[in-house]
Order: sequence, then C-alpha cells, then structure tokens
Amino acid sequence: MSQLNREAPWDAFDPQAYVEHNYKTVIQEDREIVSIVRAHFADHFRTRPDRPARGIDVGAGANLYPAFTMLPWCDEITLLDRSPRNELYLRAQQQSYDPGWDAFWELLCADAAYASLPGGPRKRFSEVTRVRRGDLFALRDRREHWSVGTMFFVAESLSTSRDEFQEAVECFLLALTPGAPFAAAFMEHSSGYDVGATHFPACNVGEEEIEAAIAVDAVGISMFRVGQPDAVRPGYTSMIVACGFRGTGR
Ligand SMILES: C[S@@+](CC[C@H](N)C(=O)[O-])C[C@H]1O[C@@H](n2cnc3c(N)ncnc32)[C@H](O)[C@@H]1O
Repeated sequence: MSQLNREAPWDAFDPQAYVEHNYKTVIQEDREIVSIVRAHFADHFRTRPDRPARGIDVGAGANLYPAFTMLPWCDEITLLDRSPRNELYLRAQQQSYDPGWDAFWELLCADAAYASLPGGPRKRFSEVTRVRRGDLFALRDRREHWSVGTMFFVAESLSTSRDEFQEAVECFLLALTPGAPFAAAFMEHSSGYDVGATHFPACNVGEEEIEAAIAVDAVGISMFRVGQPDAVRPGYTSMIVACGFRGTGR
C-alpha cells in the first residue's frame, strides 16, 4: 500500500516503544555506525578554525546519539521532528537524558574530543539542543543554515514514495552550508516498520539509489554497509551509512 508522508500516523509514534526496540542496548550495528560518524566529524573539525558549528539532526525522533556525534563541535543543535510525542520525548531528554544513552556516549569517547568535552555530555546536551517540532520538507526555506548535520533512518522511513525520499535527502543537504560535513543512515530495501502496534511506511531503495540521491548535492561521499539482513527487525537488507560534505554546486 502506498502512503505519503502526510498520510502516515506520526501522532501515534510511540517513543518509548521505539527506544525499547531499537536503543535499549548498544548493538554491533550501533558500534559500527558511531565509529564511522565519529571519525568523519572528528577528522573534519580537528583541523577547522570555523568552530563552533551549528548542527541539525533531521527526524531526530527517539534517538539521541546522532546529536551526540555533533556535541563537541556545536554551540547549537536543532533536533527536528514532526511527531508530537517525539517532541515531548526529546524535551524530557533535554532536561536530563535517560541513563541508557550513556553507553552510546561511551562509544564516542574513543576519540579525545568527546572524552574531554568540558562539563560532560549531559550538561552540554541540555544547553545546546533546541527541540523543534516541524516538517523536514519545510527546510526548503532554510537553505544553507546549518554547518553540520545528521539524518538517521528518516528519508527512506517517512513514506513509500521515491519522490519524497529524494526530496527529503535534498532538503537535508540544501539546509547545510557548502562544505558542511554530514552523516546520514538508511535502511536498505525496507518494507516498513512497526513501532509498538503501529505500522509506519518505508520507501524501497538500494545503496546505489541512496548514493545517487546524495550525490546531487554532496561531495567526498563515503558509503558503508552495516549489519546483516533483518538483524534488528524483519524487512530490510542492510543499514547504509553515508558520510560526506555538502557540495557547492547549487
Ligand atoms: C524511523 S524514525 C528515525 C528516528 C531516529 N532518527 C533514529 O535514528 O532512530 C523516523 C523519524 O522521522 C520523523 N519524521 C517523519 N516524517 C517527518 C517529516 N516530514 N519531518 C520531520 N520528521 C519526520 C518521525 O517522526 C520519526 O521520528
């Protein structure tokens, strides 16, 4: 069944059920993803004078670790999501995040920039994050606003539409300043996913289509396949992580 983004039941997205299923413990896929993104951002920012950066995690939902990967480099991180319950979850986490997220921060501490973060991650997360309920497609009006960005399991997990997948990738990348580093994660060939008892749609895209969508507005792209088919749930072939830099083309 085809389902557009505006037709999916985002008001029913249950962040507790989502965390329980996906982020209750650190799994091998998380380890790999964190180490890929940590290296990408640390390599970039270590040599950059243009800090502090302004970050955005698009479709943040009930996952804090994409924002964690940007924490040492940013004085502001927007956490954008369209679901009201995810907004409430993120606002509560902003006050003081659940102890379960500490294990994800620990993975990042393999790099000294994270391990030596002044004041520690909890205080920093609370100070720099800005929770915003909103539609990523409206990022069209915020071109070149953020200087680092993440978008994890969103563009392919918001509808069945190939056009909306491509538009989501485009909106994410064009919201970044030229040269900005980014990391994006995808479920390859996803058939949709359940959060608690509610089903959410996905767009069936493979690694080549993902890379092609990113390449329109990015340079220096590295693609990584992470994990085995159906490891965290039925109905996908691999997790895909893409790292790169917003291009200067348009
Ligand atoms: C599969 S979840 C991914 C959540 C999180 N980024 C992660 O890594 O687990 C997809 C997220 O996209 C959000 N979302 C769906 N459509 C959106 C839109 N148009 N604008 C912003 N967020 C959207 C949902 O509310 C949900 O939190």
